[in-house]
Amino acid sequence: MSTTPRNILVTSALPYANAPLHLGHMLEQAQTDIWVRFQRSRGHHCRYVCADDAHGTAIMLSAEAANRTPEEHIAAIQAQHERDSAGFLIQFDQYHSTHSPENQRWSETIFARLEAGGHIAVRDITQAFDPEKGLFLADRFIKGTCPKCKAPDQYGDNCEACGATYSPADLINPVSALSGAEPVDKDSSHLFFQLGHFEALLTEWINSGQLQPPIANKLKEWLEAGLQDWDISRDAPYFGFEIPGYPEKYFYVWLDAPIGYMASHEVLCREQGDDFDAYWLPGGDTELYHFIGKDIVNFHGLFWPAMLDAAGLRQPTAVYAHGFLTVNGVKMSKSRGTFILADTYLEHLDPEYLRYYFAAKLSGGVDDIDLNLDDFVQRVNSDLIGKVVNIASRCAGFLRKKFDNQMSDTCAEPELVQSFIDAGDEIAALYEAREFNRAMREIIALADRANQYIDDKKPWVMAKDESLEAEVQEVCSVGVNLFRALATYLKPVLPAMAEKSETFLQCSLDWTALDAPLVEHELAPFEPLLQRVDADVVTAMVEASKSGA
Ligand code: MSP
Ligand code: ZN
Repeated sequence: MSTTPRNILVTSALPYANAPLHLGHMLEQAQTDIWVRFQRSRGHHCRYVCADDAHGTAIMLSAEAANRTPEEHIAAIQAQHERDSAGFLIQFDQYHSTHSPENQRWSETIFARLEAGGHIAVRDITQAFDPEKGLFLADRFIKGTCPKCKAPDQYGDNCEACGATYSPADLINPVSALSGAEPVDKDSSHLFFQLGHFEALLTEWINSGQLQPPIANKLKEWLEAGLQDWDISRDAPYFGFEIPGYPEKYFYVWLDAPIGYMASHEVLCREQGDDFDAYWLPGGDTELYHFIGKDIVNFHGLFWPAMLDAAGLRQPTAVYAHGFLTVNGVKMSKSRGTFILADTYLEHLDPEYLRYYFAAKLSGGVDDIDLNLDDFVQRVNSDLIGKVVNIASRCAGFLRKKFDNQMSDTCAEPELVQSFIDAGDEIAALYEAREFNRAMREIIALADRANQYIDDKKPWVMAKDESLEAEVQEVCSVGVNLFRALATYLKPVLPAMAEKSETFLQCSLDWTALDAPLVEHELAPFEPLLQRVDADVVTAMVEASKSGA
């Protein structure tokens, strides 16, 4: 299983700095974090960076509503985000902000390269403008009566009542959602990134085999429909970076957001001495992966590769999209109490339950993931407590009472233990492919075999017969060795439980450390590894999510 160490840089999408994290965000961060921890456990050099996405009109307005300057607002939200991610044991190497000097410098540099390459066009466009607020209005800030079904109070791009999509100009009696004023048309010049120049590059990228098939298909559709110029400027007032050479024009938030990955990584490199250029210039053997939700595939699958190329930077190795989180089969809903904030979850429940549940559901695909709360309780209690933890607690009891925590001198079942160690290759391949659900199934199947072994040997019966004393120690030592393999394989998902297990086992749990069984080895006293989930606490969390809404 020895492999050459890889140099890997991984990102999760940058959460917007205007709202707290919810369980949908945690699905993404857990997926990424598990993959990163897995890579580290295999001995690779793997860094994980993220940041808050701090720019844009929505953030400017939410700061205003909170009676804070944008800077105060984004700092306060970022602190909450970092606290909540840490609560879910998400181990970022660096968490930065897109509103940072590093990001400004890179945004300006990349823009200058796009411009120098002849990829920026300037032209006038007409947009809806709120004369009271003095702001151009994005579609979602315009409301009116649906032109099709006449439902009142619908947003500018689609009708929630009949599902029609249209342009805000089609709305009957349109008003600004910000002030209630009637929008007027106003001209302004905008900067456009000419995406069409990158058709050959994007065709190659889409056919590279590095993208998930449904994502590649979606991108192909866009490509076939013809690549439109991308509007990358916004007019003042805007919270963002002013575009050098274009006073009163700001970079659109989505221009500088992915550049935030680089900015965050740059800070990390400065602090840790990693080689930034080795990750961002073309031609090296480092790897770059972006984990994202399926709603932001266009930005990461089209605009970002084109921008990188235009700026003389490397291409992502792959972009990995995941589906959306639903709770009890439907979209998260405040009134049902299923719009669960990360913080509310953490006030009630252990983060490792959800990390495990997500792992048990996540595949390498883009299907939505359902958190069914009854299944959640049942699955965690039966798999983790009933099967995995049970092996350790059963065996540890006998070893402590009768053998002073000392494991047997030889391994009584070398083949069985070896088969658990050998299973590591298959499980590793599943983790690598982000088939976490299949990895969890393999691990739990091994746990079933381990429990079966103990059930067959019945150490609790043998313990009553003094002549079988040595055998009790041997059987329980085999059980502990089997548990050690399982805890190693679960470590990316359950890092806190792994840490407690390392203390108990008095050895480090990494793929790279899992070779021969532990013999003549002294264990530390066994401490509980994980508590059962209490269904009442889940109910309380749902209630708290209703009142919090
Ligand atoms: N700021 C942008 C990303 C910029 S990346 C250069 C953004 N922010 S977000 O806060 O709306 O979402 C952050 C990530 O969380 C995205 O990948 C998004 O898909 C994901 N999710 C947000 N809600 C989600 C669910 N309900 N379920 C799963 N993932 C979800 O987009
Ligand atoms: Zn309608």
